[in-house]
Amino acid sequence: MKRYPRIGSSHIELTDIDSTNNYAMRLVNQGMAEHGLSITADFQSEGKGQLGNVWHSEERKNILLSIILDMSEIDLAQQFMLNGIICSAVANVLMEDFALANTRIKWPNDIYIGKKKIAGILIENILRGNQWQYAIVGIGLNLNQTRFSFNQSSTSLKLELNKEGSKAKTLAKLFKQLNLSFDQFIQQPEMLYDQYQQQLFGINQTIFFQKNGEVQSGVLKGVNKSGEIEIEVGSQLKIFRHRDINLLLH
Ligand code: BTN
Repeated sequence: MKRYPRIGSSHIELTDIDSTNNYAMRLVNQGMAEHGLSITADFQSEGKGQLGNVWHSEERKNILLSIILDMSEIDLAQQFMLNGIICSAVANVLMEDFALANTRIKWPNDIYIGKKKIAGILIENILRGNQWQYAIVGIGLNLNQTRFSFNQSSTSLKLELNKEGSKAKTLAKLFKQLNLSFDQFIQQPEMLYDQYQQQLFGINQTIFFQKNGEVQSGVLKGVNKSGEIEIEVGSQLKIFRHRDINLLLH
């Protein structure tokens, strides 16, 4: 089996960049990518979020992190599984290291404390044909920002714990958990996927969602291996992709 360098063992710290994910992508394109290389920045002028959204983050306040993973020996069918294990790793840090028991994953990859978003994840994959080459895992974790003009329903570790957080210590905790999770992903991906499902906001409960502007409800049964959400509406199991519905927090 391939020997993977530890995540975070090589690290690049930037002050100002368009996006740490873009920086990582450029390294891949220049043939300079190595597994586990992590990149952080104090500020991103074009921080990228899910579905083409912008990721706003006040300068020097938060964790803006990208990690390059060599996926060349992993089946592309596990793409969503990687998303699941990364979400769980971030959620585990918040629950175990910071004792934030009400941490939940809002499908597919937002991390919430109660009803407020604390972290977002954006994974960009590099393929050659059908072969997975690299994954660039982007993590934005709100650390010391206390005012959120773009999204009122956001929070940070400082707001939750009432004290300034250390970027270096928090990064070390993230790397530790990400290494644990990646090792398990190689050995027992199913186990971690179960954990992702257990940490989902609304699992086995009635949830509300919006589809084509109309609010509907149903019981959240889980998320399949392709990343589609399964909701029991009446007696029917309905399956939706990320772009198709908007989960409502209630
Ligand atoms: C989301 O919730 O929409 C995903 C946000 C991901 C933000 C991080 S910050 C570090 C990395 N670089 C980016 O441009 N985006 C990700």
